[in-house]
Amino acid sequence: MNGAELNRIATAMVARGKGILAADESTGTIKKRFDAIGVANTEDNRRDYRELLFRSEAAMHQYISGVILYDETIRQKAKDGTRLVELIERAGSIPGIKVDAGAKPLAHCPGETVTEGLDGLGLRLSDYRKLGARFAKWRAVIDIAAAIPSYTAVSANAHALARYAALCQEHDIVPIVEPEVLMDGDHDIERCAEVTEFVLKETFQQLYHQRVSLEGMVLKPNMVIAGKKSPRQAGTQEVAERTIAVLRRCVPAAVPGIAFLSGGQTDEQATAHLNAMVAGGNLPWSLTFSYGRALQAAPQKAWSGKAENTAAAQAAFAHRARMNALASKGAWKPELEKEAA
Ligand code: 13P
Repeated sequence: MNGAELNRIATAMVARGKGILAADESTGTIKKRFDAIGVANTEDNRRDYRELLFRSEAAMHQYISGVILYDETIRQKAKDGTRLVELIERAGSIPGIKVDAGAKPLAHCPGETVTEGLDGLGLRLSDYRKLGARFAKWRAVIDIAAAIPSYTAVSANAHALARYAALCQEHDIVPIVEPEVLMDGDHDIERCAEVTEFVLKETFQQLYHQRVSLEGMVLKPNMVIAGKKSPRQAGTQEVAERTIAVLRRCVPAAVPGIAFLSGGQTDEQATAHLNAMVAGGNLPWSLTFSYGRALQAAPQKAWSGKAENTAAAQAAFAHRARMNALASKGAWKPELEKEAA
């Protein structure tokens, strides 16, 4: 393991004014996104769509530090035969790869999952490194309901995250450690804070036991936010303050950066929350975005599967990337949303 190199890459992933594009939707997940815009889920359409994003050169260069890819995409070529990974590198951005095999039902724990994918992971990591990946992602999923999460599910997921992170570092790949507490329920923000703290405490405990170098990783957490179905939605400032309070209790200052997931927030909410957290100032880590939906919903809609919409889709992507890049510096304002991309 080259600790200095891991730290250099982790630091570059959360560089000031830049963030991560999560474009690692599995074939099943991208189908849901394509269904919403009436696009057939073919290999060519997936290629055309992602090629459009990675060729948004100015946006990629200025605002996107890294891109999380899916197995198909890291091996895929653009229409002209250039590897998609090369497009990302040319734009000065770092290629990464999702390596988990998805959340599967956890035995004896109805309604809960554990993320699988550790078997053979070492071999896959060396393969991915040869294909250009310099960081990886593993997502654990924790749902909130009356009797869950259980300690069984939280500890099993934290253990798997830590095993994954240690293996990544042995292969000179920076792990993005993503323990996502879902915002799908009807729980209030206090409950999200309590569960997020539980999950993060357990995750960092397991990272320690598996000897993970905190200097060579990036944390990708959820924000502390009320469930989508809760009648009591918190304001921007409350989300920002509660999220930072929980992170301060759980995340050692040795971690170079925290890159949030958007988790189903609207585009503008995800931006406003990040901005409020950074604007609060005096933080021990860099804060930025690692958004999937909140960066891509607008370009997907603008594209709608038509080649003639490519420029409009790239403009929509550039706009969201710029808004979030400003938020990562605490310099975003709602008025900026109205400016053309
Ligand atoms: P969202 O921002 O759409 O939550 O996706 C981020 C991600 O990578 C989830 O694993």
